[in-house]
Amino acid sequence: MYPLTPGESPENISKDYYSLAPIVMENPGIRNALTILYQKSQIDFTSGRLPKDQASVVIWSFMAHHQGIRLRDLLRECLKWLGGQWHVASRQPQKRQDYSKLLSYLDRGLKKAGVELRLNNRVSAETVKEEKPDAVVVATGATPAALNVPVLSERILVQANDVILGQVRTGDRVVVVGGRYLGMEIADQLADEGKKVRLVTRRSTGRGMERNVYLTLRNRLIQKGVHLFSNCPVVEIRENGVYIVFDNDLLFLEADTIVLAVGVRPEKELGEKLKGLVEELYLIGDCVEPRDVMFAIREGAEVGRLI
Ligand SMILES: Cc1cc2nc3c(=O)[nH]c(=O)nc-3n(C[C@H](O)[C@H](O)[C@H](O)COP(=O)(O)OP(=O)(O)OC[C@H]3O[C@@H](n4cnc5c(N)ncnc54)[C@H](O)[C@@H]3O)c2cc1C
Ligand SMILES: NC(=O)c1ccc[n+]([C@@H]2O[C@H](COP(=O)([O-])OP(=O)(O)OC[C@H]3O[C@@H](n4cnc5c(N)ncnc54)[C@H](OP(=O)(O)O)[C@@H]3O)[C@@H](O)[C@H]2O)c1
Repeated sequence: MYPLTPGESPENISKDYYSLAPIVMENPGIRNALTILYQKSQIDFTSGRLPKDQASVVIWSFMAHHQGIRLRDLLRECLKWLGGQWHVASRQPQKRQDYSKLLSYLDRGLKKAGVELRLNNRVSAETVKEEKPDAVVVATGATPAALNVPVLSERILVQANDVILGQVRTGDRVVVVGGRYLGMEIADQLADEGKKVRLVTRRSTGRGMERNVYLTLRNRLIQKGVHLFSNCPVVEIRENGVYIVFDNDLLFLEADTIVLAVGVRPEKELGEKLKGLVEELYLIGDCVEPRDVMFAIREGAEVGRLI
């Protein structure tokens, strides 16, 4: 149940919503930095829309792509599972407990809404042309970026997402490249697993991050013996380590594995190809610009209402 009286809503949110909402999240295991994924878009203050004799109603809410397709009946996904990047996030040890609740919630919502689901089904401009839908919501998200430096050996390079999903294992000496959310989180995870971890980043560590989250993660890393190399761009990857700029000079860090957390690349191709092909076309979430889940959910909700 969601509050329908604006004046009471902040109090309600802190009481009822918090305990009821399946989408209450915490940032990486940090108890004092609660991020509650409620959206203004999920709270409808229009009393005229209430069904007769009801004081409040449940308003269904879905994340990004799920939100967008709620009023139609088909959701296509090129993987074997749903959830996109959130599926990876919910496998992180720091987030596992809370983040997976959002996925179960969305899953239940899809079932209740009777949405037809086609997994392992990559959508192309051709398939869209064949099906002639009235409207298309593109929520193709983003995929991990590569490092734009000479790589003399690919062997030791892995993506943080693959480590999280258990698809690759790291050696004992690890250099993590990337000093924002994902870089700091994967360094934290690997340090917990007993690896000797060094974190290298181009500009300041935690640049632009929410301050409390950054400080908590930074303190954790220092306590766990992770060496932080701020303002040290990577310049070359070798078979047995990485060259970085350190103090206006080159420094070689030996490593068994180099873990990349250097951002994501928006998957824009499908959206671009569909422009002019379908009458109603909406682009939402990270495929527009990589941000975080709050934006994806809100944009999905807004498009869901528009269609
Ligand atoms: C490890 C990790 C941790 C994160 N932690 C947080 C966090 O703590 N807080 C936060 O707010 N955000 C976090 N994020 C970011 C958040 O997960 C994303 O912002 C959010 O998932 C974006 O949602 P989306 O639906 O736009 O795209 P995505 O989640 O990228 O989903 C896009 C989906 O579209 C599918 N797809 C792509 N192309 C096609 C095609 N042609 N046909 C069919 N299907 C296709 C993909 O397989 C994918 O499942 C994290 C991301 C990662 C990787
Ligand atoms: N909200 C959350 O809690 C959360 C948690 C995890 C992930 N996410 C999302 O997941 C996505 C991926 O996260 P991310 O941390 O990988 O990406 P990101 O936020 O784009 O950070 C990339 C990091 O890699 C560094 N980098 C890039 N090229 C480099 C180079 N050549 N040498 C050294 N460092 C380099 C960047 O340095 P500069 O600072 O110089 O750019 C930056 O620190 C993002 O969209 C993010 O918002 C969100």
